[in-house]
Amino acid sequence: MPERCTLNAERCLAILLSGRGSNFLAIADAIDAGKIPEARIAVVISNLADAPGLDAARARGLTALAIEARGRKRVEHDEEIVAALQAHRVDLVCLAGYMRLLSPGFVQAFPHRILNIHPSLLPAFPGLDAQQQAFDYGVQVTGCTVHFVDEQLDHGPIILQRSVPVLPTDDAHSLAARILEQEHLAYPEAIARVLSGKYEIVQRRYCPKS
Ligand code: GRF
Repeated sequence: MPERCTLNAERCLAILLSGRGSNFLAIADAIDAGKIPEARIAVVISNLADAPGLDAARARGLTALAIEARGRKRVEHDEEIVAALQAHRVDLVCLAGYMRLLSPGFVQAFPHRILNIHPSLLPAFPGLDAQQQAFDYGVQVTGCTVHFVDEQLDHGPIILQRSVPVLPTDDAHSLAARILEQEHLAYPEAIARVLSGKYEIVQRRYCPKS
């Protein structure tokens, strides 16, 4: 992890989202509960001005920015986001339902400092509708993955996974709801792991250090 960014020694998180923001809220609640020590959310950013997660951020008194992507080149849009992240002295970027691929320049601006959560046990079922993909495939266990973001889709080193059984009574909707419960536990825990600095990445492997 990089140098601490603020005078009061807190680590500054940014949340990027495009939708309802339930993972954002789980992270914010975990910080409030002291489960992610010395962290604060410096800014919440969405590519969609009407994302409910932005309203939820404002309701919590957080800085919430809409940086609209529509009609703009990806690189140009990402440059504006990177500038906003740097202006808020962000240490760690957390993608939480952010429905945009990041350009290489964005990833390179925050090496090993961008996390994503994906609702499957990667590398199975990357991309959209992962819960539906898993259900349709007929797997008996699926789950969620928090990983570092690299330049490929749903691909970087895995920090933490939680498994979820597929029940005989499930449909894709009920399965997604149970995966989401696990996401809300996994993401704060993964952030705390990364902020602790007690790990190294060996090739692709997350290796805890005591
Ligand atoms: C989650 O399922 C997450 O895994 C995926 O997008 C969804 C976002 O949900 N990347 P929410 O906006 O955090 O409720």
